[in-house]
Amino acid sequence: MDSLLIKGGVPLNGDVTISGAKNAVLPIMAATLLTAERCVIRRVPDLSDVKFMAQILTSLGAEVKLEGDTFTVCAAKINPVGDYDLIRKMRGSICIMGPLLGRLRKATVSLPGGCVIGARPIDLHLKGFQALGAKIKIEAGYVHATAPKLKGGDLFLGGRAGPTVLGTANIMMAASLAEGVTIIESAACEPEVVDVANFLNAMGAKIVGAGSPTVTITGVKKLHGAEHEVIPDRIEAATFAIAAAATNGEVTIHGARADHLHAVLDKLREAGVKIERNGASIKVKRNGKLKPVDITTLPYSGFPTDVQAQMMVLMALTPGISIITERIFESRFMHVSELARLGADIAIEGPSAIIKGGKPLSGAPVMASDLRASAALVIAGLAARGKTQVNRVYHLDRGYEKIDAKLRKLGARIERVQET
Ligand code: EPU
Repeated sequence: MDSLLIKGGVPLNGDVTISGAKNAVLPIMAATLLTAERCVIRRVPDLSDVKFMAQILTSLGAEVKLEGDTFTVCAAKINPVGDYDLIRKMRGSICIMGPLLGRLRKATVSLPGGCVIGARPIDLHLKGFQALGAKIKIEAGYVHATAPKLKGGDLFLGGRAGPTVLGTANIMMAASLAEGVTIIESAACEPEVVDVANFLNAMGAKIVGAGSPTVTITGVKKLHGAEHEVIPDRIEAATFAIAAAATNGEVTIHGARADHLHAVLDKLREAGVKIERNGASIKVKRNGKLKPVDITTLPYSGFPTDVQAQMMVLMALTPGISIITERIFESRFMHVSELARLGADIAIEGPSAIIKGGKPLSGAPVMASDLRASAALVIAGLAARGKTQVNRVYHLDRGYEKIDAKLRKLGARIERVQET
């Protein structure tokens, strides 16, 4: 198992280019199962989750080819049974269920895995499929869905913590091949949902309203092959912006969609970070002293839960008290105890973390617990004095393309080492 060895205290400087969005490409790859024709997806990030998804598609009978950042798939003949062990590996795999149900009218999929950040149920996905007429049975760790007739209907997809991102994508995919019109109320508005809808529309689907809480899908008989370029990863862009601010550097982030980053850029500005937008690039540097800010994670267009851990590091470096409240996932503070090893002073009170910032961080060996926690530990290591070893770095490889190489190009002293 690899780990990252970081010698901190070096400001990041230079240019970085953002890769394709993990949370868009995974459902888009799954959507290729909706047609027997060839699909080509570009700007596909080199991530282990993408490789897992490619393996899942292969196990279902699709022919896939990943060359550079282009993914080609032909799902001429597929079967409806997902491989138990592959699907268990990541949350994104639940999105094969909608396409299988849409195309084959049946799907057998094991309960998905993913980062350990909360219970992560799939009740809303199942509720959506049931509203389209599917019968659901859970047996021996598998979900069996059958729908001899898939019929459009009205459904409300809001849950305890708001809308569901993958749930919205899943229902859009199944409903695209259902009979009649489906209206999803309280749909997730994330840019990744819009990207999936754009891909489906390129395949011949009829989806309007994606990006708003009401999405209308008029079912069609058949979808065809399509080409698509995945949107840039807004979470990766936010991670680099925070890393630049945390190390007191100056980084130009290319290929970032600032229009997908309003909440993050707004909080960074409030925290005393200067953000300059120039077309598809964002230049980030500190603007004098950092200031504490309070943040609550919310569904889009609110502050993303996937940036909460990284922002906590910046606040740990900022003199004063900041409060970060996590409203999407109930156990997404695993990074707090590891940040304490570097000297951060953070207390958890229910869904909130109270950060008494401004104490200098000093390097230590730490353990990554999930994807964004890992990114936070890397940023903390870059900002800390001395050496930080981030163990279990495979979490990071699930969602950040070549993060160590990109950071090295910005001047970071970061090496990948084989754990003994
Ligand atoms: N929820 C339910 N029932 C469901 C589905 C979700 O109660 O059936 C709850 C969840 O427990 C959570 C909330 O609804 O409290 C939102 O979950 P959502 O379904 O939106 O999350 P997801 O679609 O499973 C995606 C991303 C996550 C990201 C969330 C929220 C992918 C592969 N994952 O997950 O990304 O945090 O949306 O934006 O798209 C990450 O990239 O690190 C990551 C965890």
